[in-house]
Amino acid sequence: MKNIPNQIAMDGTAASGKTTVGKIVAEKLGYLFFDTGIMYRVAAYGAYQKLHDISDEKKVSEVVESMDIALENDTVNGVTNVLLDGQNITDRLHLPEVDKIVSTVAAYPAVRAALTMQQRKIGLRGRVVMVGRDIGTVVMPDAEMKIYLEASPETRAKRRYQENLSKHIESETYEMILADIIKRDKNDRERTVAPLRPADDAVIIHTDEYTAAEVAEQIFALMD
Ligand code: DC
Repeated sequence: MKNIPNQIAMDGTAASGKTTVGKIVAEKLGYLFFDTGIMYRVAAYGAYQKLHDISDEKKVSEVVESMDIALENDTVNGVTNVLLDGQNITDRLHLPEVDKIVSTVAAYPAVRAALTMQQRKIGLRGRVVMVGRDIGTVVMPDAEMKIYLEASPETRAKRRYQENLSKHIESETYEMILADIIKRDKNDRERTVAPLRPADDAVIIHTDEYTAAEVAEQIFALMD
């Protein structure tokens, strides 16, 4: 690898493999892996806990702006814990209930403004692989490398279903997950602020036929 970019932006649809691939790339380069989807999940979870309803944009935005979010590295188990107002909520962030409301909260402009600002600060430090929906277009438009991962809704639903089974989350069928993925993609693509789309200079990789390790290899090949 000769041309190693300082900032790597990785975007794509729900369950396209961004997190798994991004982690492999970051680990190999010794870079920080930063999943911005987690921030939107914390925002959605926290707003719902406080308000029991996320339809009032102004109230949701106020709650999100006042949240105290901390990340804590658990070196024993090798995971990063997310603390919201001091409470560890890591294992709640991928619950189906959060999946259902997160794209609504992520479409609120004031929520995006607050979170984008924090993400930019982290990006500016460099040596980072940042994954999300608008990293190449809005958060780090000057990133030296931009990757956009794509896969069919069916492949992505299958992956999420298997992932849920491995975590003993069995409340959702494959069909329910597929419907949710299609709905979230639509919300993410059609929102007015920072919609999901590849940056003009992004490399688009279709991941249906490849494992995460193989996709990571394709990304490293771009650095030669
Ligand atoms: O990647 P994920 O499924 O954890 O993302 C959760 C939601 O957050 C998804 O509906 C899109 C939204 N999101 C976003 O709008 N912008 C980002 N940079 C990251 C995630």
